[in-house]
Amino acid sequence: MIEDIFAVDYGALEQQRIVQGIVRACVPPRYRYLTVEMLKTPQRVPGVEDAIVAAVQKYLAERRWESGRGLYLWGPAGCGKTYAVSALACSLVRARVFAMYFDWSELLEMVSARHHLGQDQEEIEDAKHAHVLILDDLGLEVTTERFRAYQHNMLFSLVNSRYNRNAPIVYTSNWPLARLVERVEVAGEQGNPLLRITRRIAQECDVVPPELEGASRAG
Ligand SMILES: Nc1ncnc2c1ncn2[C@@H]1O[C@H](COP(=O)(O)OP(=O)(O)OP(=O)(O)O)[C@@H](O)[C@H]1O
Ligand SMILES: [Mg+2]
Repeated sequence: MIEDIFAVDYGALEQQRIVQGIVRACVPPRYRYLTVEMLKTPQRVPGVEDAIVAAVQKYLAERRWESGRGLYLWGPAGCGKTYAVSALACSLVRARVFAMYFDWSELLEMVSARHHLGQDQEEIEDAKHAHVLILDDLGLEVTTERFRAYQHNMLFSLVNSRYNRNAPIVYTSNWPLARLVERVEVAGEQGNPLLRITRRIAQECDVVPPELEGASRAG
């Protein structure tokens, strides 16, 4: 029938929107099928940090990004940080929120490469304008060659422009925030962009596991 030819399959269109959105959000390919609901594993996965899973679920359920709050999720390698924030990115896209996922080191590399080639910083533009930005594996290594002044300033401008617009960032790191700030403070002079970045994180983000518990556990 002629009506069938013009019938729109809204289910398929929605599925297409979700797939395209998740690819555009740069979610790591192996985690693109995830949702936050899937983090509720029937039996606890050894090494997976319950507090991180709970924080991500709460963040989504309470739509915490709408009030500009971010998250700082930290823990040892393999505790489930990338898995949890990937699921968050996918669920945000499903909920029609513009989310972007970046691995911190990869973002730095892309920024440097584009700088050297004199290209527009497309990734930085996406990272600036996403409703929720996820920065995975934050490691502010002030001693390494990679972190040049250009990169510091670029990242400070990203964090600061989002801060001024009340636009949240969800970070993950191997470091408890207190330790990260300490390391930057020891190495950096006043006005160091890394110091200013870590201060904004402390102001804007819920730290999970909580700071005091974290600091003592790391000690
Ligand atoms: N909630 C979960 N349910 C089931 N499997 C999980 C969960 N969280 C993590 N995993 C599994 O555990 C492994 C390690 O998780 P993930 O890569 O997220 O750790 P990470 O904290 O990001 O580690 P790193 O600090 O090395 O980046 C992955 O292979 C993932 O499949
Ligand atoms: Mg990871």
